[in-house]
Amino acid sequence: MTNEAVSKVVLITGCSSGIGAATAIRLATAGWTVYATARRVESIAALAEAGCRTMALDVTDDASMQHAVATIEAEHGAVGVLINNAGYSESGSVEELSSERLRRQFETNVFGVHRLIQLVLPGMRRQGWGKIVNLSSMGGRLTFPGGGAYHASKYALEALSDALRFEVKGFGIDVVLIEPGLIRTGFSQAAVGSMTTALAKPGPYSAFNEAVARNTKEAYEKGMFSKLGGGPDDVARTIERAVSARRPKARYPVTASARALLMQRAMMPDWAWDAFLRTQFPQPGAA
Ligand SMILES: NC(=O)c1ccc[n+]([C@@H]2O[C@H](COP(=O)([O-])OP(=O)(O)OC[C@H]3O[C@@H](n4cnc5c(N)ncnc54)[C@H](OP(=O)(O)O)[C@@H]3O)[C@@H](O)[C@H]2O)c1
Repeated sequence: MTNEAVSKVVLITGCSSGIGAATAIRLATAGWTVYATARRVESIAALAEAGCRTMALDVTDDASMQHAVATIEAEHGAVGVLINNAGYSESGSVEELSSERLRRQFETNVFGVHRLIQLVLPGMRRQGWGKIVNLSSMGGRLTFPGGGAYHASKYALEALSDALRFEVKGFGIDVVLIEPGLIRTGFSQAAVGSMTTALAKPGPYSAFNEAVARNTKEAYEKGMFSKLGGGPDDVARTIERAVSARRPKARYPVTASARALLMQRAMMPDWAWDAFLRTQFPQPGAA
């Protein structure tokens, strides 16, 4: 049962740039009470000026997640809308990926999301209303070589969200996956930056890693893929639509190219998808 004093307060992670910042501004402008958060609170000073409340929150730091949720609950009773946006891509070949870097990828993209969900759910259940929005990717349903760690984390997020959607529906809580295609943000820089060590070390994947770094950079800066991509506000607009809907969809792909690629992947057998990828990436080990 929804009570009258339902809190629709929004908590967003990773607002220092890109999609998180655009979503915070869009929702605050539309009248939502928004708590925009980031690891370095000074990086979101402009969001405070745009009408958001700002707080420090690192999704790999349990105490900071507890503190953020407790602060909102003390002021408003519950987090009404949780937008799990913080995330990055750990890129490079699977063989050369250290276990430590793979763990770090999951700490941010999966475990942080899970922990925040755990922290907000009791409040949402108490008031019989809540929306949990998880920033997945078209890369949560298809994979590109050189993105093993990132795709694994987003596939995990898709599975967690699918299970959760069923489990919390009866409590009045909706779970939504946002699946952007290429979006021009700080994302590509972080992805290429994660390959610094791999790129500096000669090895069997050197040419491949270089191609992954080059393709990533070029895809966001020029050419067909860049043109088919979108900006952070395209995602923010979709998120606003999802949190405002009485019956939101389970998945919202963003950009026409994401929808086209997801359809292409769903229709292609694995061998045909691999053949398509060979037109885009050099295959390591092949003569
Ligand atoms: N851009 C795309 O093409 C694309 C496509 C599909 C999905 N996505 C997803 O969209 C989400 C947002 O990405 P974006 O494109 O907006 O990239 P972005 O501009 O690089 O923003 C990523 C945000 O995540 C934050 N972050 C990273 N680790 C964090 C941590 N431990 N705790 C809290 N915040 C942390 C970053 O904060 P710092 O400034 O502190 O590093 C930054 O604010 C991600 O989940 C990404 O996977 C992006």
